[in-house]
Amino acid sequence: MVPVITIDGPSGTGKGTIAGMVAEQLGWHCLDSGALYRVLGLTAQRRGIDLDAAGTLAELAASLPVTFTSDGRVLLAGEDVSDAIRTEAAGTAASRVAVHGPVRRRLLDWQRQAARPPGLVADGRDMGTVVFPQAQVKIFLDASPETRAMRRYKQLKEKGLDANLANLVEEIRLRDDRDRNRSVAPLKAAEDAFVLDTSPFSIEEVLDRVMKAVDAAM
Ligand code: C5P
Repeated sequence: MVPVITIDGPSGTGKGTIAGMVAEQLGWHCLDSGALYRVLGLTAQRRGIDLDAAGTLAELAASLPVTFTSDGRVLLAGEDVSDAIRTEAAGTAASRVAVHGPVRRRLLDWQRQAARPPGLVADGRDMGTVVFPQAQVKIFLDASPETRAMRRYKQLKEKGLDANLANLVEEIRLRDDRDRNRSVAPLKAAEDAFVLDTSPFSIEEVLDRVMKAVDAAM
């Protein structure tokens, strides 16, 4: 069986960055499952599909022409949407399409097929609980909404983009509530996950702790 490391947690905990770094250190593949939900949300919005229309969204999920390139870009029918899917609006659309069971079921095989030799590091909300319950190592990264909003605020400012801290805290709380309280695959740590509150740590310090957990488990 292909070894899998799952890294779950709410947005802004640095799990995508950490997943990429762990995958690079091990020479493994990386799956950013959030990007999949973001592309679906973006496509639905562009096509004017109601984000509550579970059946239509599930059909769209089954035929989504998305490609993840080896250099980390996301293509939608050949168009580079790497930046377009990173906006707060795309994150909100992603979390709205992600509440639907039929949508999530359609994306299961797609995600599981990403587990290819020599191994996979998968990040998201339900990687350790639903998509890869047999994963060798499960990590759950957390941080307070204020810490996560501040990280996002700094990222946006560094890019020269407009940002409002209070709005970011509010958006993060709303998205957390939706992700944690949905009936299908809610955001939660797997029972056998290594849980780490990243609030006091830099990315390097988080990576160090995660790699120690990986080494101890494998
Ligand atoms: O991780 P990211 O912030 O890119 O994810 C965007 C949204 O996609 C999340 O807020 C969540 O609602 C949804 N998602 C999910 N399951 C995953 C990954 C993301 O429901 N495995």
